[in-house]
Amino acid sequence: MVAAPADATGPRVPVVRGSFVAGDVGDWRITEMRTICGDGLPRAAALTRVEAGRFAAAPETGSGWVLHGVRSNERYTECDEKARLTTLQPGLGRPNSLVAALIPIRKSDAWWVLPQDERRAIFEAQSRHIAIGSRFLPAVARRLYHSRDLGESFDFLTWFEFSEADAGVFEELVGLLRETEEWRYVAREVQISLRRTPVAG
Ligand code: HEM
Repeated sequence: MVAAPADATGPRVPVVRGSFVAGDVGDWRITEMRTICGDGLPRAAALTRVEAGRFAAAPETGSGWVLHGVRSNERYTECDEKARLTTLQPGLGRPNSLVAALIPIRKSDAWWVLPQDERRAIFEAQSRHIAIGSRFLPAVARRLYHSRDLGESFDFLTWFEFSEADAGVFEELVGLLRETEEWRYVAREVQISLRRTPVAG
């Protein structure tokens, strides 16, 4: 076998693998699991979000499960939108972000057969995803993981952190997005609400 030619462009930015491990214990206590559409997920008591060079395994005991995704390049965000988001978006892990939500989402085949420009048009020109979302910054911190190309059961794992006082604001945001044209292509969606587990000691 002939070895692949050496890469003369230097090292790549490492792939960040995200795992959401649900089980009996974890960094976040699950306060509610709501199936918005499609199949739900098995009930669990707690969840941990892990970012590493490798995916985490599912817990060996109990009825736990794990979902995997990778942090990836942006597909739809345009230059001016990116500049605005960079100014407005808070980071994860703020001390007052005591509540969070994991929303795994799968889109329909009808979405994935569309060409890129039509998907972008539905996403922003028609649905105003970024424009709506931006109104909720900096209250809500977010992170998006892509799962579709991993052959996972969801296409995206969306993660949000905010203060208890902003829990209602977050519900307003998801309510607005679910009324958009983009959400007509959402075939499976589960909303997992979380509260940070107090640190022992
Ligand atoms: C906090 C406010 C929000 C902002 C500022 C925001 C912003 C964005 C941006 C900029 C993208 C495009 C990334 C790219 O260019 O590829 C995106 C994608 C996405 N967002 Fe949001 N978002 C917000 C809230 C939400 C919420 C609440 C959900 C779920 C209920 C959600 C679900 C998604 C999904 C599934 C994608 C991927 C869409 C696709 O590639 O087809 N977002 N979001």
